[in-house]
Amino acid sequence: MSIFYDEKNRLFRLDTSKTSYVIGIYQENYLLNFYYGKKISDMHFENFCKRNPSASFSLANPVIGENGFTPDTAPIEYGCNGAADFRISALAVRNYNGDNVTDIRYLSHRIFKGKKSIPQMPTTYANSDDEAETLEIDAIDSVTGALVTLSYTVFENHPVMTKSVKIKNTSDKTMFVERAFSGCYDFNSMDFDMLTLWGRHDKERNLCRRPLAHGVQGIESKRGVSGHSQNPFVAFAKAGATEDYGEVYAFNLVYSGNFSALAECDHNCSTRFIMGINPSDFEWTLAPNEEFYTPEVVSVYTPDGIGEMSRIFHRFYNNNLVRGKYKTEKRPLLINSWEAAYFDFDKEKLVAFAHEAKKLGVEMLVMDDGWFGKRNDDTNSLGDWFVNEEKLIGGLKPLIDGVNAEGLKFGIWYEPEMISPDSELFRAHPDWHVHVDNRTPMLGRHQYVLDVSREDVRENIWNQMYKVLSENKIDYVKWDFNRNISDAGSALLPPERKKEFFHRFILGTYDLMNRLVTTFPDILFEGCSGGGGRFDPAMLSFSPQIWTSDNTDPIQRLYIQFGTSMCYPASTQGAHVSACERTGYETKGNVAMWGTFGYELDPIKLKEEDKEIIKQQIADYHKYYWLIRKGDLYRIISPFDDSYYAAWQIVAEDKQSFLFTFVCMRRCSHRTCFIKFKGLDPNKMYKCSLDGESYSGEFLMNVGMNFTEMANRDGKSFTVYFE
Ligand code: GLA
Repeated sequence: MSIFYDEKNRLFRLDTSKTSYVIGIYQENYLLNFYYGKKISDMHFENFCKRNPSASFSLANPVIGENGFTPDTAPIEYGCNGAADFRISALAVRNYNGDNVTDIRYLSHRIFKGKKSIPQMPTTYANSDDEAETLEIDAIDSVTGALVTLSYTVFENHPVMTKSVKIKNTSDKTMFVERAFSGCYDFNSMDFDMLTLWGRHDKERNLCRRPLAHGVQGIESKRGVSGHSQNPFVAFAKAGATEDYGEVYAFNLVYSGNFSALAECDHNCSTRFIMGINPSDFEWTLAPNEEFYTPEVVSVYTPDGIGEMSRIFHRFYNNNLVRGKYKTEKRPLLINSWEAAYFDFDKEKLVAFAHEAKKLGVEMLVMDDGWFGKRNDDTNSLGDWFVNEEKLIGGLKPLIDGVNAEGLKFGIWYEPEMISPDSELFRAHPDWHVHVDNRTPMLGRHQYVLDVSREDVRENIWNQMYKVLSENKIDYVKWDFNRNISDAGSALLPPERKKEFFHRFILGTYDLMNRLVTTFPDILFEGCSGGGGRFDPAMLSFSPQIWTSDNTDPIQRLYIQFGTSMCYPASTQGAHVSACERTGYETKGNVAMWGTFGYELDPIKLKEEDKEIIKQQIADYHKYYWLIRKGDLYRIISPFDDSYYAAWQIVAEDKQSFLFTFVCMRRCSHRTCFIKFKGLDPNKMYKCSLDGESYSGEFLMNVGMNFTEMANRDGKSFTVYFE
């Protein structure tokens, strides 16, 4: 890994062990994006900007002359608004007199070891300065005085690059940032399929694959959060690329708020892609010398298919995104009270759960929603983060003591960014919810959103949370967020800053989360938003796991987990076995074993035979814990491609062992079921847990195994372990 600068030809090359990214400084200091792809070692970009002349109705820079170079078709490194680059722009800055033409040119650069963080925002990180190298390029718009710093980091052990942008007002007048994307990427082709993850509550992250077409296409969120509807993930797979073969570029935004990811295929059949904060409902005022930072976008390139793209993300996020104690320590196996009791519990019931769960091997009881204010249903009390003593007589201490006495750790639920109109907090502060003047804000699940862009609001919530968490022995916090943001506005923002609200809200959330994880480093955090409505890399920087979906039906979960695995590792996918009756406990366990694993049911109501299955599952959970969390995922049969089967394989880092799981979603009477395994060492012998035979990796990957007899049983599943 290295970043080179070829001074003579004015070219930067950013290399990882497998990829190169080349930026050139062209005439008149235009910054151009010459190449992104497989690693190269020589650079010849003299003719690179020549485009088909018949395609031109394009404009020339008069200093350069009409020699074929035009900003309209050149691969501009960070496309700006209004100066003859007519494609989707990454940056638009309006100056004091209302002009918003923006045109940045190279000024200077720095190359240094390591990676900087972004103020107030979560990012990926380098574990040591030797692991990464960073290039910062300063580019100036001489008219507005916007000084733009483009930051790039490449990593030693991962074919990954990150980009982010800083904009500084170097003029003596106020300027307004109308749009500031995190990254801009120009490709010389439009021969790609675009892969995105769409969804809704209970049906998160379904895979969508469509060929790129002329014009603008893309995904976005205007919900105030990354959201269920579209995940901030986009991949471009060369047409024909599959799970195992073909070129893939993929992008994931480390941000939890409104985002936009747009691809434009232009009249030259080239593609520009931009990803960052959604410019609609956004504008940022910069007084002289003030700075604005975008979030960071992570990009992956691989010539080895969609599966390898996912594994690159997984390894990178496990090592360079997730942080804190539970990045490396084993996490306690939990049972959550939600589906077992909803709001109807007291100390005795929860301690009885703990007593029964302990016998099965569970290690932690999580008390979900309903413990605070006067909350017995979802119509009230959000914001009142003190114990509901009518329900939990004597407060939290007797309950936690009771649970601990059963030998279990204890976890609790919060929804800190929300306020119920029926709450003491609302009655005391009727202007603390997100709203605009003269409009009655929309309700979602009977609740408003609390304006955490305000420091006084955050302080109040922080003090309430701090009291509970510091006075009690709490090992886990589930941080929920159960509606989207409408009627967006903050009572404190002046009119010219109203459009800063959405981003300020997210910065407020990050501030609260950061205080929490740094003040309570021993607490395990799990993110949540109506299931997996805020499953993004920024949240993973605070909570090493996120509840993947409220949908615990194991067959429907397959789609959700396969989709989520596009870029998020198994270690981050909250997955529980529930009482859902769709399949037996074996299949529910096999599916949940993919993720963090846990239970979401009333253990007292379990049948004896199911308890035996669960005990075995928990033994398996311990046996395969590190294999699943550190191993490489191979999707063998995806439910998005097959109506009958789903199968996946997790291979240990050292390729000494692997676990294979197969689920029959629907019995198929006409198929034989041969499985060819992937990612093994062809020269190693693998002993199969089914028949005790040893097979070579070569045999297993080329001939495979015949599972026809076991495969065709409706709703049934099996796992096979090889070592
Ligand atoms: C959300 C979560 C659930 C549960 C409920 C509690 O829907 O996704 O897991 O915590 O809130 O109200």
